[in-house]
Amino acid sequence: MPLLEIDNLSICFHPSATRVVEGFSLRVAAGEAVALVGESGCGKSVTALSIARLVPSPPAVYVSGEIRVAGRDTLKMPPAQLRQIRGGTVSYIFQEPSAALNPVMRIGNQIRELLRLHQPQWDTPAEVIRLLESVGIPAPATRARQYAHELSGGMQQRVMIAMALASRPKLLVADEPTTALDATIQAQILDLLDDLRKRLGMSLLLITHNLGIAGRIAPRIAVMYAGQMVEEGPSERLLARPAHPYSQGLLESAPRLGRDTPSLKAIPGQVPRGDDMPVGCRFHPRCAQAQPDCAQTAPALISVGDRWLARCPYARRANES
Ligand SMILES: Nc1ncnc2c1ncn2[C@@H]1O[C@H](COP(=O)(O)OP(=O)(O)O)[C@@H](O)[C@H]1O
Ligand code: SF4
Ligand SMILES: [Mg+2]
Repeated sequence: MPLLEIDNLSICFHPSATRVVEGFSLRVAAGEAVALVGESGCGKSVTALSIARLVPSPPAVYVSGEIRVAGRDTLKMPPAQLRQIRGGTVSYIFQEPSAALNPVMRIGNQIRELLRLHQPQWDTPAEVIRLLESVGIPAPATRARQYAHELSGGMQQRVMIAMALASRPKLLVADEPTTALDATIQAQILDLLDDLRKRLGMSLLLITHNLGIAGRIAPRIAVMYAGQMVEEGPSERLLARPAHPYSQGLLESAPRLGRDTPSLKAIPGQVPRGDDMPVGCRFHPRCAQAQPDCAQTAPALISVGDRWLARCPYARRANES
């Protein structure tokens, strides 16, 4: 049984009936790393937050679908069970550690609070030190007595990761965890996440707008556009020859990790907003390869290779040159 199974998830925000997440399915096995990639506004965060039902409804309406964590549907869970999932079985880290840390509470005490909540048997000063050490923070005893503002952005993100690990999660959801950091620190944090996943055997769902970052630590990539999965496949092959025109555009516009190069070739136009979703293929107004029928017919996911799907009838097949 996969650790996480999202099946045919559709979400809209009242009063709009547009599905900002549309028929989305994804599986993540125990110990596996998967990256969810797409431009800002494509629905990555709404999808990720809905795993622990963290998108408040209202205004969100869960129109259809199931989200099972270790076999149990979080969309149907009573509140007490859901509290065990949130920040427990499923932990999150986000883009801005400074916004998530309490500015007036020592780092160590913030970690103790989480231990008290999720792992009371481990609520000790020694466990705080162990957690800070496990995320590569030097002089952990000193750091535990400091406040967030005494730490650099990279160190703050390490603290956030230590806090996320306090509950001993089975799934870590990292939503743009390095977007606010310098390129060299980005690489260090990604390597840390990769290392922790292997050491602890937890699953990792990495969310990023950068295909290069995705490929660095996730063997499988899911590309999301305007609320839909548009491509899913093995990273190495997908990055070498993306099948879907949107993935091709993303790859051409992605700055290389570790180098602050400007976008090589931006995709023209913008991600559609909820109230203004194109009919037919949601990508057609921006697609360089659009055909006349793309504005009428909504494409389905098709197989383009071994364990490789794309939502486009004109997608490049793995065996085509
Ligand atoms: N609380 C909300 N109310 C209305 N629309 C929302 C809300 N949260 C997100 N959305 C819309 O859902 C879409 C997906 O947003 P999001 O998941 O944050 O994208 P991403 O994380 O890929 O940048 C966007 O069109 C956004 O405007
Ligand atoms: S269905 Fe048409 S518009 Fe959509 S990605 Fe494929 S070619 Fe482009
Ligand atoms: Mg987001």
